[in-house]
Amino acid sequence: MLAVPKVLLLPMNTEHDSVSLREITRDTVRPVCRIEVAPEQRHFVASTAVSIAEAHFSPEAWFRAIYSGEQPVGFVMLSVLPEKPEYAVWRFLIGSEHQAKGYGSAAMRLVIDHVRSLGAAELLLSYVPGEGEPRAFYEKLGFEPTGAVEDGEIVMALRL
Ligand SMILES: CC(C)(COP(=O)(O)OP(=O)(O)OC[C@H]1O[C@@H](n2cnc3c(N)ncnc32)[C@H](O)[C@@H]1OP(=O)(O)O)[C@@H](O)C(=O)NCCC(=O)NCCS
Repeated sequence: MLAVPKVLLLPMNTEHDSVSLREITRDTVRPVCRIEVAPEQRHFVASTAVSIAEAHFSPEAWFRAIYSGEQPVGFVMLSVLPEKPEYAVWRFLIGSEHQAKGYGSAAMRLVIDHVRSLGAAELLLSYVPGEGEPRAFYEKLGFEPTGAVEDGEIVMALRL
């Protein structure tokens, strides 16, 4: 019988820091609604609670909490319209105390994988321009401005 090295008996902890997208449940809805951006970022995105409320009246909404390990750190909502077809990021945020740790880019990569699995050819989004805008964040993920401006928001697209 092979001797098992002690290190294998320790928790292997790679899951701990991994980022996942999870359905929101009765048990998690309150902690998820407590995830907030910084006050100076509030004009960029609606609150998680308002987004979840809107989702319940929007058949096109697909939404998930963003987790790091077992901790909810963010929220994403997509508008999914296969009949058009049009796939767009509707809401995306990482809680203020969890920003700049790589969670946003890891979560957006999972969103991109999900949308690609639905057969989408492109993923759209729009952002409010101004100080602290997320343009560079999206550009690092491969999004490019389409040239369109909708309701004052700059539209970007990622070819999938
Ligand atoms: C934009 C947001 C989702 C980014 O999430 P995050 O977890 O902080 O981002 P990451 O740590 O994964 O950053 C990835 C890269 O993007 C850069 N980045 C992140 N936010 C940025 C911003 N607002 N402007 C410019 N660059 C930014 C980071 O510096 C990092 O660069 P690096 O890879 O060269 O180090 C988050 O800051 C947020 O929720 N902002 C407020 C709400 C908002 O603007 N949502 C978007 C609505 S369209």
